[in-house]
Amino acid sequence: MDIAISTTINGRVHDLSVRPNQTLLDLLRDDLSLKGSVEGCGAGVCGSCTVLVDGRPVSSCLMLATNAAGKKITTIEGLSQDGKLDPVQEAFLKHQAFQCGYCTPGMIMAVKGLLLNNPHPTEEQARDYLSGNLCRCGTYVEVLAAVKELATG
Ligand code: FES
Ligand code: FES
Repeated sequence: MDIAISTTINGRVHDLSVRPNQTLLDLLRDDLSLKGSVEGCGAGVCGSCTVLVDGRPVSSCLMLATNAAGKKITTIEGLSQDGKLDPVQEAFLKHQAFQCGYCTPGMIMAVKGLLLNNPHPTEEQARDYLSGNLCRCGTYVEVLAAVKELATG
């Protein structure tokens, strides 16, 4: 039996009917057509599905949609405002911190979460915080360069 929840996604309140076993990632992608959060491992290992839940990065493949009730969810689609990219997105572009782009939405959301919780991280703190976000293209140096600029800018 479906469960009624109310949740805020990218600043907009949604009253939704979700399945008890539905993940937040499936809710975002399949029901709301927010395809920016992508599934890599589906098991909480790669970070490609990272979204912010009340300002903290969460692997949306591991979170049940029912647990989004009453929460504020931010996806990659919610970062830009009034047609202007978020500073994290700008920094990724400037430092070319992506190649194929598969990990990039999750990586950007993790960096956003890092800076929300610690605006001036050291490189060691950034490495530690981002250790759950894997990039098969090996863009870690560029990602850290983007974080460094954001942390010191
Ligand atoms: S798809 Fe969620 S952590 Fe890999
Ligand atoms: S840019 Fe290709 S997986 Fe990270």
